[in-house]
Amino acid sequence: MQAVELDGVGSAEWEAVLAGEQQAFGGVGEELSWARKTRHVAVLGDDGVPLALAGAMIGRVAVAEGQPFPVVGIGGVIVTRAMRGRGMARLVLEAILDVARELGPERAMLFCRERLTTLYARFGFHLIESPVTAEQPSGRLIVPMRAMWAPLADGAGWPAGEVEVLGEPF
Ligand SMILES: CC(C)(COP(=O)(O)OP(=O)(O)OC[C@H]1O[C@@H](n2cnc3c(N)ncnc32)[C@H](O)[C@@H]1OP(=O)(O)O)[C@@H](O)C(=O)NCCC(=O)NCCS
Repeated sequence: MQAVELDGVGSAEWEAVLAGEQQAFGGVGEELSWARKTRHVAVLGDDGVPLALAGAMIGRVAVAEGQPFPVVGIGGVIVTRAMRGRGMARLVLEAILDVARELGPERAMLFCRERLTTLYARFGFHLIESPVTAEQPSGRLIVPMRAMWAPLADGAGWPAGEVEVLGEPF
């Protein structure tokens, strides 16, 4: 099996991969508004229906009120429930990180639940310990999830300080 890039992901693809699962992103994930992804990868079943998805887009962040810089925001990572634990997350994450390296920014960033930080650490992500805020329709809030970043270019680091996502989280 391999991950392929899709032109877009709409409600049909989400319905297929969610397969009726409620709160697949743990509830808090479902409550927030997320930035629209511009690039999508999927593992497709024999019938062409997605079994796993991941998305990416270019976002902007400012750290410690410094000059804003672009990041590749990665999100919408999901494997349909019946297929978890068989390596599909690895397939979509490796593929979306290939896409991320094409996009140009030197860093990727994502939000996840605490228990998934070990999964993302295996793909080169590091915890951001400082608070991270982002925009929501109701205003700016502290994102109530763990934030992680990964270098996409040699020598990229992450500056210390509070992080503002200039837009919705990804
Ligand atoms: C998180 C999720 C994508 C993992 O999918 P999966 O198909 O079970 O993962 P894989 O089988 O590809 O596992 C990839 C690696 O992560 C590890 N892993 C998987 N789930 C994990 C978990 N909950 N905690 C820690 N490690 C985990 C696996 O051991 C594997 O490591 P290895 O390749 O070194 O053996 C899946 O559980 C899911 O879709 N959950 C619901 C949506 C969600 O929470 N998405 C993440 C949003 S940030």
